Amino acid sequence: MKQPPNQLFSSNNFPRIRMRRNRMSNFSRRLISENNVSLDDLIYPIFITYGSNIKEEVESMPGIYRYSLDLLHKEIEYISSLLIPAIAFFPKVQNALKTSDGKEALNKNNLICKAIKISKKVNPKLGVICDVALDPYTDHGHDGIIINNQIDNDETLSILCKQALVQAEAGCDIIAPSDMMDGRVGFIRDALDKNGFTNVQIMSYAAKYASAFYGPFRDAVGSNLSLLKKSKKSYQMDPANSDEALKEIALDISEGADMVIVKPGMPYLDIIYKVKQEFKMPTYAYQVSGEYSMIKNAIEKGWFDEDRIIFESLIAFKRAGCNGIITYFAPNIAKKLLNKDDKN
Ligand code: PBG
Repeated sequence: MKQPPNQLFSSNNFPRIRMRRNRMSNFSRRLISENNVSLDDLIYPIFITYGSNIKEEVESMPGIYRYSLDLLHKEIEYISSLLIPAIAFFPKVQNALKTSDGKEALNKNNLICKAIKISKKVNPKLGVICDVALDPYTDHGHDGIIINNQIDNDETLSILCKQALVQAEAGCDIIAPSDMMDGRVGFIRDALDKNGFTNVQIMSYAAKYASAFYGPFRDAVGSNLSLLKKSKKSYQMDPANSDEALKEIALDISEGADMVIVKPGMPYLDIIYKVKQEFKMPTYAYQVSGEYSMIKNAIEKGWFDEDRIIFESLIAFKRAGCNGIITYFAPNIAKKLLNKDDKN
């Protein structure tokens, strides 16, 4: 008969059972390790901007830069050399191009489309992921369009479909709807299929929370000012909720999502665990800008050991059940993974 755990570990079993025995030597720690972070787990977000010869650091994200397109090929070559499987582009659109309807999102020659083409030219095998949401392009900073003082779900859907098509035509491999409008995954899947993009994947930001951890990102893409005093709570989820996340994920899967994202990452490990257990889908965490900044700032102050903290923050996602992680630390960890095979 199976012993209940409390009996198995009762003091009677000591000293026969010593948990430390397996941990004594490096080889043994390697043998008993249950999870690992590999190059195959990494997705790297890249910020792009207008102009030329620009590599400017994002103030709130030390070590993360916005690149103008003429410098992008070098960055793509670098990321490729680290064997990172995929990148995700985020544009910083100049204010003059922002409108209330975000129509620059539909311009076939916009910053994102040009970046996709550059990336595909430099390395066709590097996976390219693009957000579908209007916030980089709207003057109010919201992900959808505003009608009668509300983010209008249904009117936004048709624009998002066009945005997805424009990006697919430019060569994007994975469309990542991050807008949290209801029904968007199904609409986008149909639009892609009708236009011959049956193999373009959808990685949906299925459970995306209205989070303060996005602060530095909004600085990076310049949607901060316009959003000041406004919130995305009418479409992004309440951090208090968990059952609702499972419903969101179930809906996106039923509408055709190939992969699902939980965002932010570290404060939502419980959600990741439940999602993986329940749906067994390819599941990803977005270790968002605020998580990056917290860790990076503490590293720079000397409060955290760089190698250990980054690895620990990423292995937590693997333990929770993630297939991969969207992380600003991707090049950093990739370099380490390439340089050594032993995590001690
Ligand atoms: C846009 C979007 C956001 C992030 C990714 N896509 C911000 C937001 O919803 O306001 C955040 C990423 C990060 O913080 O690193 N819809």
